[in-house]
Amino acid sequence: MQKDGYDNRITTASARAAEAYAHATSVMLAGQSGMVEAFDAVTREDPGFALGWMGLGRAHHALGQGAAALAALERAEALSSGTTDREASHINAFGLLLRGQGPQAYRAIRAHTDAWPRDALVAQTCSSVFGLIGFSGKPGREAEILAFTAGLLPHYGADWWMTSQYAFALCETGNIEKADQMIDRSLAQKPENAHGVHVRSHIWYEAGATDQGLTYLNSWLQGYENDGILYSHLYWHAALWSLAQGDTEGMWTRVDAAVAPASGSASPAINILTDTVSILHRATLAGVAVDDGRWQAVSAYARQAFPATGNAFVDVHAALAHAMAGDAPALEQIITAPAGPAADLVPDLAAGYRSMAAGDWSEASGSMMRAMADLARIGGSRAQRDMVEQSLLTCLVRAGRAQEARDIAALRRPLLSSSIPA
Ligand SMILES: [Fe+2]
Repeated sequence: MQKDGYDNRITTASARAAEAYAHATSVMLAGQSGMVEAFDAVTREDPGFALGWMGLGRAHHALGQGAAALAALERAEALSSGTTDREASHINAFGLLLRGQGPQAYRAIRAHTDAWPRDALVAQTCSSVFGLIGFSGKPGREAEILAFTAGLLPHYGADWWMTSQYAFALCETGNIEKADQMIDRSLAQKPENAHGVHVRSHIWYEAGATDQGLTYLNSWLQGYENDGILYSHLYWHAALWSLAQGDTEGMWTRVDAAVAPASGSASPAINILTDTVSILHRATLAGVAVDDGRWQAVSAYARQAFPATGNAFVDVHAALAHAMAGDAPALEQIITAPAGPAADLVPDLAAGYRSMAAGDWSEASGSMMRAMADLARIGGSRAQRDMVEQSLLTCLVRAGRAQEARDIAALRRPLLSSSIPA
């Protein structure tokens, strides 16, 4: 009987397949380049090993490659009889996830991690802001991720992956000091963990450590290849810090090379869309001239990559792109037909961007204010939702309500106070 890298029994007689599976799991958990190839290697070592195929399916799924993900899932399902209870449950939970049955997948995954907390690939689906809890639309979902990761932590000892996920949950609930200690421990063990580097970037963002963060990311990104799952997103973080430093040229260089649709990035479409919209808008709010063509391109990308509504985080960013590009029909579709678990927040935010694009600051402030009670429900990180926070502050200032903007920033996001004109 072989075991995976987290002491779980796996149904393969091949020691080489087991070793390749532990390696592929580590590549996936660390967001490194070549995760599809790594699981592909497992299936070559033992074509009868069900979890090897399931890992391959999950890797394709994480990269937004739906057809390849389903093909690998079907191979795993065909091999699932004769596997352990954990492996059968693992394949069942991922089957629900890969077929888009989010709520059922969430229930199956929570039951699975209660029974087998050290099944890290399954736990990963709920452990960060772009996961099943992160996009659940539920009130208090930041606290739920903290509770989920804190509950798993005792089962993992000092493991680099678990420590990095707990650090992210701490960061997103405001415990920066403890998050800082945790991520140092994690990265000391596994400096090539792109997800850990990402968490480190968020902690420095929350701390306002712009220069330190940018120096670190510039150096680390030298060794990160463009098929790494976080490639575009880490460049977005770097671009945001360049903007904060007033280095507009450095910002555009990063956006054009790695973030915008025209960069040819292999990153998931959700990152290409939301990060591009975010940096264009935040640059605009900071007084940087943004070409209409950039808005047209990202609006067209949103229409093609996300033709239907369903994820509030995506839909709010798409609405802003359409508002700025002047695509009224696409914008109205989002306002009138929102979908997904946080759909109730989308019309006010999207209408807010429609008013903002028209220069109606008072109307925009009113619309956005209605969605602010639990903005975290739309998903994404605090740093990403600062696009909305900063939009509201800007609208208030332009509507002649600067003191209100300062009060709101002081209560909600003190980090953004310095961006409000005196
Ligand atoms: Fe991020």
